[in-house]
Amino acid sequence: MTEHSNLAQIGVVGLAVMGSNLARNFARKGHTVALYNRSFSKTQDLMDNHGSEGNFIPAETIEDFVASLEKPRRAIIMVQAGAATDAVINQLADAMEEGDIIIDGGNALYTDTVRREKEIAERGLNFVGAGISGGEEGALNGPSIMPGGPAKSWEALGPLLESIAAEVDGTACVTHIGPDGAGHFVKMVHNGIEYADMQVIGEAYQLLRYGAGMNPAEIADVFRTWNEGDLDSYLIEITAEVLSQVDAETGVPLIDLIVDSAGQKGTGRWTVKAALDLGIPVTGIGEAVFARALSGARAQREAAIGNLPSGELSSLDALGVDRETFVEDVRRALYASKLVAYAQGFDEIKAGSDEHGWNVDPRDLATIWRGGCIIRAKFLNRIREAYDANPELATLLLDPYFKSELASLIDSWRRVVIVATQIGQPIPVFASSLSYYDSLRAKRLPAALIQGQRDFFGAHTYGRVDKEGAFHTLWSGDRTEIQV
Ligand code: 6PG
Repeated sequence: MTEHSNLAQIGVVGLAVMGSNLARNFARKGHTVALYNRSFSKTQDLMDNHGSEGNFIPAETIEDFVASLEKPRRAIIMVQAGAATDAVINQLADAMEEGDIIIDGGNALYTDTVRREKEIAERGLNFVGAGISGGEEGALNGPSIMPGGPAKSWEALGPLLESIAAEVDGTACVTHIGPDGAGHFVKMVHNGIEYADMQVIGEAYQLLRYGAGMNPAEIADVFRTWNEGDLDSYLIEITAEVLSQVDAETGVPLIDLIVDSAGQKGTGRWTVKAALDLGIPVTGIGEAVFARALSGARAQREAAIGNLPSGELSSLDALGVDRETFVEDVRRALYASKLVAYAQGFDEIKAGSDEHGWNVDPRDLATIWRGGCIIRAKFLNRIREAYDANPELATLLLDPYFKSELASLIDSWRRVVIVATQIGQPIPVFASSLSYYDSLRAKRLPAALIQGQRDFFGAHTYGRVDKEGAFHTLWSGDRTEIQV
């Protein structure tokens, strides 16, 4: 036995479900895995239940944990984002040596990652903020991994991460995204897109259920069919599963027993906040985050249900809308709105990358999001092809393939927005995405009027379509125009 056979190639700190599944994944791939958790009982549980799956080195102290790692030491932290992460990083950094690598695999805010990398680099260590997607199942069987941090860390880390990541067409769903916070930024936007994706699926469900009057089992079948076409994706697949579930106790479809207030841990909100700062309209993601917030506003909703005038509402029958046509229209509206959300997400990533000089390649994301992650979808192959053909696409929507798709979706999309409005069903992402789309296409926007108003009350000046420069009209004087 060599001296190194007693050392671990990778260590995992934080052995809640995600951490422990990730550790098992590494072990099953033949790596020796060092384990540390603040309370040793969790470590012991992992050893008792899964210790036979591979080589583990359980440690009771962080010092023993660090000592059991091969150099350069590589330790992945899987603890709650925020203060807990900082505490563990400091403990590890105290025990580690120059050149060692600390990887934060949680959903950290990318600005924290940028700060942490600076602090850690000053201590001679390497810090890698890595987004990991795929939930518990992905962590165990193959997640999509988005590591940032210094390129030289990727050399020491790449093969290890590749060995546990999901694989699509022989390509591992992991690549070096870019320096410092790039990985966590991209993971954040991934989650924002996840929110929009879930919301458009929710809006389709709402229309089929309360517009077309279909029951959950029927709608589950519709989603199963959709999953065989352009919408083929993990989220559509699990939607059919959720809608098919019947409560054992009552015999009622489970969906009808679940409280309709959606939770959120913050990554969707972060995506929107960052987009606001970058000036990127991520309307689909924004509406999805707000829809969750509205669903949770119980007191307001309880006061409003049955108490706000609806106006005269129609029905599919009264409107002469045939159910089969409507279902297909809804599928197309979902697809088009989803396209908008992805286009906006990619816009935000480009803007973030430009702002921070990360050089993120959109093709990489389309590649590593094809498998393992929550938004994995067949559709990502098309996005990859779009960026392969033109990495400088002004918007994904202008890619020739997606343009031709939009041509076949647009009429249905408009019909769904109209019908939903007539029957009084909420479709915040379908509707706002269509407005975004029409705004992009519009020859003239009312922004000209806004510029006129700004100049009127605040002399903020405006540009002219026919001349260079900034202009101001003397609104409270003789209304002549001056160049400023
Ligand atoms: C993933 C997910 C995951 C996220 C959950 C819950 O990529 O595996 O995005 O990281 O934590 O989806 O997010 P919310 O609680 O905010 O819905």
